[in-house]
Amino acid sequence: MSERRIPLSEPRMSGNEARYLAECVETNWVSSAGPFVERFEREVARATGVPHAVACVNGTAALHVALLVAGVEPDDEVLVSDLTFIASANAIRYCRAWPVLIDAEARYWQIDPDKVRDFLARECRWRKRRLVNRRTGRRIRAIMPAHILGHPADMAPILEAARRFELPVVADAAEALGALYRGEPVARIADVAALSFNGNKIVTAGGGGAVLTGTAQLAERARYLTNQAKDDPVESLHGEVGFNYRLTNLQSAVGLAQLERLDRCLESKRATAAYYARALGGLPLELPEEAVWARSSWWLYTVLIEEEKFGVDRASVMRALAARGIETRPLWMPVSGQRPFADCQAYRSEHALGLHRRSLSLPCSVGIAEDDLTRVASALAETHAEFAGAGGSARVRRGSR
Ligand SMILES: Cc1ncc(COP(=O)(O)O)c(C=O)c1O
Repeated sequence: MSERRIPLSEPRMSGNEARYLAECVETNWVSSAGPFVERFEREVARATGVPHAVACVNGTAALHVALLVAGVEPDDEVLVSDLTFIASANAIRYCRAWPVLIDAEARYWQIDPDKVRDFLARECRWRKRRLVNRRTGRRIRAIMPAHILGHPADMAPILEAARRFELPVVADAAEALGALYRGEPVARIADVAALSFNGNKIVTAGGGGAVLTGTAQLAERARYLTNQAKDDPVESLHGEVGFNYRLTNLQSAVGLAQLERLDRCLESKRATAAYYARALGGLPLELPEEAVWARSSWWLYTVLIEEEKFGVDRASVMRALAARGIETRPLWMPVSGQRPFADCQAYRSEHALGLHRRSLSLPCSVGIAEDDLTRVASALAETHAEFAGAGGSARVRRGSR
């Protein structure tokens, strides 16, 4: 009998989701207004410690609006990590601005703060009180750290560079709900931040996002843009080209029920990371680290596989695990390697591609069973043994959760 498939990251509906959805149906509040939207926004704001949250249809839309309210205009440039999901870069292009792709650092795989600072100091200059890229002549308008996999980027030097060069910080916190940088939620240490509530995230609304900011004016503008820039709802007057980016009451109902269990979801992710760290510690893999200044949300547990050490390359490991019913995934091809961004400037990209090639994210759904974790760890050990002749499942240590 073939073994049950273990997905990479699936949603877990184990709270008030069905009850809240039934309430939407019973009251007929099913579309883009309703009491759950407001409750969801209040709960997102509470969970992140950011005063204002504006719910959006998805995280990509939230990023788009976050960039717009931060002042990004056509032909501006925004610094973003080369190693992030394509949505980070797409959102910049939706503003008709351009990403400058900064390399990831090798230790935590986040945007490299030294390269951010070097790029701004060496490759840019002030012209008529605007910071411009020497190479392209375009204005630099924002820094957008994406806290990938739920581990924060090292924000102190990024904030320092942002202050020195008078740039707002727009955080792509899509993967980092619950992540802390030096004790602060990552969304709170940005001028504007965006979250995702996609189905594979720590908590989901089925699909959804949120723009977060401490500035009431920016929040008001975000709300205006997400609601078709409506000036007068009765006369249908619109002050500019806006977007239909609102989240429905149905989605907000699911999102709220999920957020009520955020602490437990984060505990589950952390326990999974601890299990893998112990169980895989004897294998020649590079395991993810949590910086002393960080509390990761451990969104996706990702390891690096060096062919010379492990005996086989990452792609073959992925196939071997798939044959055992285990879903895994590499980190994204860097943005600079994606066709729509091939002409964008990539600054000193030394690590991003190598990280993509060696990386493998392992199953880590909220509430994943210990048996499943054991199966994943054993499959990795067996694959290593098969290719490197190294002793198989004896190398899997008993994980503890
Ligand atoms: C880093 C990053 N940015 C942006 C997004 C976009 O979010 P969504 O899928 O909700 O549009 C995601 C997730 O999918 C993401 O992982």
